Amino acid sequence: MKSKRLVVGNWKMYLGAAESKALAAQLAASSHSLKNTAAWIAPSFPYLSAVSEACAGSQVRVGGQNVCWDAPGAFTGEVSLNSLTECGCSFAIVGHSERRSLCNESSELVARRMDHALRAKFQVIVCVGETFEERQKGETSRVLEAQLAPIVRLLSAEAAPNLCIAYEPVWAIGTGRYPTNAEIEEAHALIAARFTKAVNYAPCILYGGSVTPENFAQILEVPLVHGALVGRASLKFDQFHGLVKISEECGAL
Ligand code: PGA
Repeated sequence: MKSKRLVVGNWKMYLGAAESKALAAQLAASSHSLKNTAAWIAPSFPYLSAVSEACAGSQVRVGGQNVCWDAPGAFTGEVSLNSLTECGCSFAIVGHSERRSLCNESSELVARRMDHALRAKFQVIVCVGETFEERQKGETSRVLEAQLAPIVRLLSAEAAPNLCIAYEPVWAIGTGRYPTNAEIEEAHALIAARFTKAVNYAPCILYGGSVTPENFAQILEVPLVHGALVGRASLKFDQFHGLVKISEECGAL
């Protein structure tokens, strides 16, 4: 997972069936010559199969925006790893700040979701990040440490290469504001150090929060930025394709 840069589109709950299929088909058709970049997309659950079909035979990989922490059973409203696999998924995002803040998902629950998926050899993107208030109070490191603690506790050295961390400051998501390169570097260095200490392996670390074709090249200058998790700019072909091209031009990791 770490030899290529990674650009992941999180479509959240924005697109309907026709838009999802059309965007996936455009991305699939444009992905054939990619050498240095992996392009992944996470559509809404109901469209996963259709999007996977549109991406079949291309380099674009499809994943879930969340995944249940347990095997299929009595978990109303959850989506199992088996179902994601049947729908053509090979990765899942867990712990997005919208799940944490709107649905009260704790770091412990996020870690259980990750653990279950990693055991099945899925690739997992775990999101972490501080609020603006926490940053203002100088609590960024403490918050990141607290979010990472249950992750690190459940992570084995064998599973670590299938894990990817997305550093997404909550105040940068969907706002047009984003941290300085120095601030991103500091957070990514903390994350890398935490994993190196625990499992002697630093996972792929993405930056997320108001990434656009205008700021991405600058953000990619940060040494520990391996790619991006992208919301709004992933919803339009030109913008997402633009991000993939910028990553591609940066060369391999
Ligand atoms: P944004 O969202 O790119 O729209 O800021 C990022 C995210 O929520 O992952």
